[in-house]
Amino acid sequence: MSNKYTFPEGFWWGSATSGPQCEGTFNKPHKSVFDYWYEVEPEAFFDKVGPGVTSNFYNSYKEDLAMLKEIGLNSFRTSIQWTRLIKDLETGEPDEDGVRFYNDVIDETIKNGMIPVMNLHHFDLPVELYNKYGGWESKHVVELFVNFAETAFKLFSDRVKYWTTFNEPMVVVEGQYLYQFHYPKVVDGRKAVQVLYNINLASAKAIKKFRELKCENNGGKIGIVLNLTPAYPRSNSEEDLRASKIADTMFNYSFLDPAVKGEFPELLVELLSKDGVLWESSEEELEIIKENKIDFLGVNYYQPRRVKVKEYEFDESKGWMPEKYFDYYDMPNKRMNPYRGWEIYPESMYDIAINIRDNYNNIPWYISENGMGVEGEEKYKNEDGSIQDDYRIEFLEEHLQYLHKGIEEGSNCFGYHSWTPIDCWSWSNAYKNRYGYIALDLDTQKKTIKKSGKWIREVSKNNGF
Ligand code: BG6
Repeated sequence: MSNKYTFPEGFWWGSATSGPQCEGTFNKPHKSVFDYWYEVEPEAFFDKVGPGVTSNFYNSYKEDLAMLKEIGLNSFRTSIQWTRLIKDLETGEPDEDGVRFYNDVIDETIKNGMIPVMNLHHFDLPVELYNKYGGWESKHVVELFVNFAETAFKLFSDRVKYWTTFNEPMVVVEGQYLYQFHYPKVVDGRKAVQVLYNINLASAKAIKKFRELKCENNGGKIGIVLNLTPAYPRSNSEEDLRASKIADTMFNYSFLDPAVKGEFPELLVELLSKDGVLWESSEEELEIIKENKIDFLGVNYYQPRRVKVKEYEFDESKGWMPEKYFDYYDMPNKRMNPYRGWEIYPESMYDIAINIRDNYNNIPWYISENGMGVEGEEKYKNEDGSIQDDYRIEFLEEHLQYLHKGIEEGSNCFGYHSWTPIDCWSWSNAYKNRYGYIALDLDTQKKTIKKSGKWIREVSKNNGF
């Protein structure tokens, strides 16, 4: 059967996870903010399931990676945990077992015919650095991150050709400093803005280090993974359009512009300056951001953001918040994923592709996460015990169709990674919503390929569907 949708030659058919969500905490020399949060507030996690074991990748990576090969993946992203690789957080001296583990994971990934993509930060700041320095509020922590990155580049860049500095840095800003869904659940707009700046700086400084170490000479490339949530206005009125432009600027372009263009959006600087909450920066730092742009971009896309002009006066009681400039718009009849509470809108894949093509130099990019989290999937098991997740296949195909249209029209997209290969632990939803091509039985750690796992094997084999 021939494809209706064929993707460019060499297209990445892969899937992504992160260290803290699949490895378990075995043998880590340090605790992350999530390890600590679970210790002090286990009830904040669905069914009180914490990060201790997750899907046991620390112990089962060989079998797990063989399963990824079996479902036809040709690339795989995970993250190196700062709290596992680094023994001395000040100097960046590595931990022996951490080095052994990540060496094995990288070698095994390559042995199974997959391109490893290694990310350096997936929300998992060492909690000590929060307690001592205020975490991402501190420029000293920026330097410590660069030390960690340097250690990782020196150890692994002979085999890892694709690196990313951060996963969804905007979620750190939102979760930790605005909307209280990540520990330490602070609400402080001014700090949020400084953290946004500091993480942009940390990414640029890590890229600078990558270039100084001449990792490109080994064919290495470095990027960042951003969660893009395209903003759509309620109407085409000037006011609604302005509200959506500001939402895009604050949540999307605040990382996308510095990463790709080396500069913060003018509108962002203008609004934050007017409100008296602009970050503290220096000429030298801004120069580093300007000079150290990414080679490629990863885009995580799950849901759009619908907005309208502010209808109610902004409540100043919490201090500065992005919502000073727009209200959320609850669009009637939108399609929802009821388990995750996220709107399903595959058309955004095309809009993102075209935006990158037209406004971001058509930089090489890939979808680094996209997927559908579903609760209670056991009820879709057939007699042989495998989950018949037709809804997921449909979701992924719809998204891929819109991506395909963007590629046909010239967007420079080189791959598609779903979230996630094997059902994994999540930040406070723990194992509530499952995303994998492979199901995990949490009690026995048995892993079983779902119908979508067989589907992706075919898609990968045919380079389309
Ligand atoms: C992305 C993250 O935001 O979405 C992942 O990079 C996360 O770490 C995924 O697991 C799905 O979100 P959640 O909260 O349903 O697990």
